[in-house]
Amino acid sequence: MHQQAKNAQKLFYVFVFIYGLFANPSESITPEVEQLIRSWSPLIWLHSEERFLPSTVEFFLPEVTIQDEQSILVQDYVTPETLIGGENSSVLHMQTREPLDCPACYNLDVFFGQSINNGSVPVYTIYREYDDAFNTLDVSYFAFYPYNRGKDACVGVPVNGSCVGAEKNLGNHVGDWEHNALRFRNGQPYIFHLNVHSFGSYYLWNESTNNFHFFLGEEVRTAVDQDNEPVEIEERYEPKYPPTVELIGTHPVVYSANGSHGLWGSPGMAWTTWDNLIIIPWLPSNTSYEGNLNWLNFLGDWGNSAEGCEYEIVTGECELGSGPSGPRSKVDFPDPQPKTSFSLNF
Ligand SMILES: *[C@@H]1O[C@H](CO)[C@@H](O)[C@H](O)[C@H]1NC(C)=O
Ligand SMILES: *[C@@H]1O[C@H](CO)[C@@H](O)[C@H](O)[C@H]1NC(C)=O
Ligand SMILES: *[C@@H]1O[C@H](CO)[C@@H](O)[C@H](O)[C@H]1NC(C)=O
Ligand SMILES: *[C@@H]1O[C@H](CO)[C@@H](O)[C@H](O)[C@H]1NC(C)=O
Ligand SMILES: *[C@@H]1O[C@H](CO)[C@@H](O)[C@H](O)[C@H]1NC(C)=O
Ligand SMILES: *[C@@H]1O[C@H](CO)[C@@H](O)[C@H](O)[C@H]1NC(C)=O
Repeated sequence: MHQQAKNAQKLFYVFVFIYGLFANPSESITPEVEQLIRSWSPLIWLHSEERFLPSTVEFFLPEVTIQDEQSILVQDYVTPETLIGGENSSVLHMQTREPLDCPACYNLDVFFGQSINNGSVPVYTIYREYDDAFNTLDVSYFAFYPYNRGKDACVGVPVNGSCVGAEKNLGNHVGDWEHNALRFRNGQPYIFHLNVHSFGSYYLWNESTNNFHFFLGEEVRTAVDQDNEPVEIEERYEPKYPPTVELIGTHPVVYSANGSHGLWGSPGMAWTTWDNLIIIPWLPSNTSYEGNLNWLNFLGDWGNSAEGCEYEIVTGECELGSGPSGPRSKVDFPDPQPKTSFSLNF
């Protein structure tokens, strides 16, 4: 390409980026906040044999249509800018244009995502600042994967460690939103929310050991503070959470298992998310994102409707489960206490 054209293209991208960032500028980000968001973004280890890689939203949308509960087409060709949003979208779902050969089949190229090299896949990062006594800053790091591979399960009779009868691959779904979140207080990390599918656990920052220590699992969220300090819960629930979240530099290290992206595996491909963060201000639910962030307003499911649910009664899972909801439906931390309150909550 001619140099001038290249420069023009660069300028265009810069423009698109800035336009996206401030598409709905309730306030602009301060360098201090941006620095915190970037320096504490996670390192995500993908399994060395991971085939179902993450992708951009732009990569995925051309492959789906928008349907309602009766599988009636509501929107055909969608882009991030034109995807339907708001309350009316909450009963909708995305459906791959090409059908799956079977509920547990993954015969579509889009499912294999994009290379994570050189920051080619962004992490959608939503931050929210509070005007409270701690200058609380919440940051949620969202990764999108076009496909989540399920696990083999025995739907026959398990005998002596093997399965007599049928073995099925259950818990697959089109579309997968995974996320982790950090709450900062006065410019320091305070608590980390590690998410594993529907389970989550909280880790408290420990300055002397320079890592995060297990605090509580999602199921025991009702834990109370004692002497104004969070207490560690004695009892541990399934799944077994790792006792700490370690750092590389200032980046929390999290693991993503083979195929299903929320579990821990062994180290493989390092996804250095700070190479490409799309930093997005949090907006209240009655306010819409605009421009190339309009896709955030979609409140339906980011994947095909469920199929192959014959074994759901026994196993609680379908061969193809329904898609997940998007970033705006996720809440990582309770609201901090207002400035006037003396109770220390998290
Ligand atoms: C939502 O759907 C209702 C009923 O179809 C329609 O009247 C309304 O205009 C829609 N709202 C928006 C914001 O599109
Ligand atoms: C990523 O960048 C490095 C260094 O600039 C380069 O050697 C490598 O080929 C790039 N990889 C891809 C997949 O673009
Ligand atoms: C299970 O394995 C044990 C030892 O390998 C064997 O004695 C037993 O007969 C097996 N039971 C069945 C039902 O196959
Ligand atoms: C940090 O970790 C050390 C070692 O486990 C522990 O003794 C100390 O109480 C922890 N500090 C906080 C603030 O949790
Ligand atoms: C990872 O998953 C792929 C299929 O997605 C499979 O071929 C491979 O054997 C798996 N590797 C491990 C170590 O489980
Ligand atoms: C959204 O709700 C808040 C408080 O509930 C209100 O102050 C604000 O004006 C609303 N914004 C819009 C665009 O409706």
